[in-house]
Amino acid sequence: MNILITGGTGLVGTRLSAVLTEAGHHVALLSRTLAPGSPCRTFQWDPAASTIDPAAVPFADAVVNLAGANVGEGQWTAARKQELLASRVDGLALLHHELAKPGHQVRTVVSASAIGLYGTTGDALVTEDTLPVGHDLLADLTQAWEQAAAPLAALGLRVVVPRIGVVLSLAGGALPALAEPVKLGFGAPLGSGQQWLSWIHIDDLCRLFLAMLTDEAWQGPYNAVAPGPATNAAFTTALAEVLHRPLLLPRIPAFILQLAMGEQSEMVLTGKRVSAAKVLAQGFAFEFPGLREALQAFYAPTLTIGPQPAQPLVAGAGSADGGK
Ligand SMILES: NC(=O)c1ccc[n+]([C@@H]2O[C@H](COP(=O)([O-])OP(=O)(O)OC[C@H]3O[C@@H](n4cnc5c(N)ncnc54)[C@H](OP(=O)(O)O)[C@@H]3O)[C@@H](O)[C@H]2O)c1
Repeated sequence: MNILITGGTGLVGTRLSAVLTEAGHHVALLSRTLAPGSPCRTFQWDPAASTIDPAAVPFADAVVNLAGANVGEGQWTAARKQELLASRVDGLALLHHELAKPGHQVRTVVSASAIGLYGTTGDALVTEDTLPVGHDLLADLTQAWEQAAAPLAALGLRVVVPRIGVVLSLAGGALPALAEPVKLGFGAPLGSGQQWLSWIHIDDLCRLFLAMLTDEAWQGPYNAVAPGPATNAAFTTALAEVLHRPLLLPRIPAFILQLAMGEQSEMVLTGKRVSAAKVLAQGFAFEFPGLREALQAFYAPTLTIGPQPAQPLVAGAGSADGGK
């Protein structure tokens, strides 16, 4: 299958490109820049200017849409909030415009979303049918993102929407940021520590994307999270155990994080306990369903010899997480 990935130069897309290629698919990226030396064929687009290489969509049998400005980067100024939104809805509008034209073979679009949709949840598991709980920045942003993807289904395409949890990878994102203070002996639960963290190992996420692309039974929204969410305190404790470090510090009070991070403290202080029941019912088997095994896959058996390669994702393929 020819698969076009928007935002494919990022954390998820880089690993996903490798996994799909290992599985025998032909991957091309749709990027704002043509980086020399990219392992994948790259088409250029500029969602803000509504321009796209006219050969990009005709290349594809399926599209994976990952493009979006990173919510963890930069201060959430009014201009940045606008960029977070525009980088998602402009790209989808441009894709819709191209996919509405005749002369392409695309039948499937997997368009990323996020569990941020649900807002702050309590201890009850939220499912795909749960309406957003409260309206914070990420909930509003994600709602608009999904609304921008919805018209693609009216084109007769199979549209799958993975609501992605906190992606665990050594190459970036939340895990290195959470692990670094623990490694240095400064690890501590954040805020109450009781807020839920619904995570997914990057290799399970990529295998989930592969299933969504290749199995026509997948359609609509799915929570892309492992079945074992943890509270922030339990996550920090598991990290400390896997890294063989003590947890000496008391909890870091919420107001300190609010002072240090401003509105972005929402990302670490609010919790989401999200159900994986729907992807399990669809037949997806997680390689890393539990937190400890996921963390051990990255850090075990000891820090001194570094990360261990997990099992190949595809028979005969290379190391998990790109060996990063
Ligand atoms: N990582 C997570 O824990 C997580 C959790 C939930 C949801 N997600 C979502 O899943 C998607 C992929 O995640 P990721 O961690 O791989 O993200 P990432 O590393 O930040 O990469 C996103 C990609 O989007 C493109 N992009 C960045 N700014 C843009 C802008 N202003 N306009 C258009 N495109 C822009 C870039 O590709 P080019 O430079 O090649 O154009 C970038 O490589 C993102 O949309 C993210 O919000 C991620």
